[in-house]
Amino acid sequence: MIVGVPKEIKNNENRVALTPAGADELVERGHTVYVQTGAGENSGFTDEEYKEVGAEILATAKEVFDIAEMIVKVKEPIEQEYDLIKPNQLVFTYFHFASSEELTHAMIKSNAVCLAYETVERPDRSLPLLIPMSEVAGRMSVQQGAKYLEKPIKGRGILLGGVPGVKAANVLILGGGIVGTHAAKMAAGLGANVTLMDISLPRLRQLDDIMPANVTTVMSSRYNIIQEIKQSDLIIGAVLIPGAKAPKLITRDMLKYMHAGTVMVDVAIDQGGCFETSRPTTHENPTYIIDDVVHYCVANMPGAVPYTSTVALTNATLPYVIQLANNGWRKACKESKDLLLGLNVVNGKVVYKGVAEAWNLPYTEVSEVLA
Ligand SMILES: NC(=O)c1ccc[n+]([C@@H]2O[C@H](COP(=O)([O-])OP(=O)(O)OC[C@H]3O[C@@H](n4cnc5c(N)ncnc54)[C@H](O)[C@@H]3O)[C@@H](O)[C@H]2O)c1
Repeated sequence: MIVGVPKEIKNNENRVALTPAGADELVERGHTVYVQTGAGENSGFTDEEYKEVGAEILATAKEVFDIAEMIVKVKEPIEQEYDLIKPNQLVFTYFHFASSEELTHAMIKSNAVCLAYETVERPDRSLPLLIPMSEVAGRMSVQQGAKYLEKPIKGRGILLGGVPGVKAANVLILGGGIVGTHAAKMAAGLGANVTLMDISLPRLRQLDDIMPANVTTVMSSRYNIIQEIKQSDLIIGAVLIPGAKAPKLITRDMLKYMHAGTVMVDVAIDQGGCFETSRPTTHENPTYIIDDVVHYCVANMPGAVPYTSTVALTNATLPYVIQLANNGWRKACKESKDLLLGLNVVNGKVVYKGVAEAWNLPYTEVSEVLA
């Protein structure tokens, strides 16, 4: 198959959908890979590295879209890319159709085959192409929290791990899923006293088994959160209720219980945030202060570490890219339920119920487009 990798053009997107290692795997299997010049540059991969494994470099996005049977991307296509997509072309990327009506209509019009990273799903209902970004954001939340706890940036002036003779900081993590677990590991590794809260008792049992001794699990409730925030130095919001807005677990009036200089990192900001006082911020201007509490609410945290994020993402996408390239999308989706669930819009038809419902569009059973 001919696989095309355009350069991402969405504002501040530095990732690339295929690394030279991934290109090598495809070329080894007899596929042809075209990469737009500079596509890997912001993630630390040069055109030369792609060429060395047998990929070919093209000058423009148009050339890549014109020649490729499958386009692998990171972000959803933006307006200037809509017309580059061809009928029947397979586009494998994050789409998040339910959050953009314009994109949904543009992809219906394109007659392309849109396979969305975010809805590829394993039999255990986990989302393998979202997990890597939660891992990155979870680990990064502690790194950012540690930085903003420093006094010159208005934090409490506390070192997470303390030093001999000085108490370590208290870190509260709300939500013990992927983000929360990775945040807890990092904070515990730095020597902080970590409290990890979740509403699922089975999850808390599991976490209690696997976490180090400086992580305590506590059932999440308004009462318990108030008790904890009185002594927390860093609070990380990592809750998710699938398909819904994040619940506001810390309300404005609860800020009065906190010490001045406490840092709140709201990783769940992409789902509306789990603190009432959260509003989305950017890497250029990541924090603001309300009632002496520092808020960090960057909606695309992995964007700041494109090398790690690219490699983490492509480690997860590559096995699917190979299946699609080897078999074509129809056969690959028939053989893999994971991939089948990734189909959202196919040749002008919406085949993912959530997307059809979001924009009140006719829904077509996926079996119809597979025939
Ligand atoms: N800002 C970013 O750059 C970025 C990057 C990746 C993920 N995220 C977001 O981080 C959030 C967490 O993602 P995840 O992959 O860890 O999800 P996950 O589903 O793995 O974990 C969410 C956890 O929250 C728990 N939970 C639900 N309600 C709760 C409550 N009231 N109190 C305590 N816990 C509760 C659930 O039981 C679950 O264990 C999501 O909103 C995700 O979109 C943001």
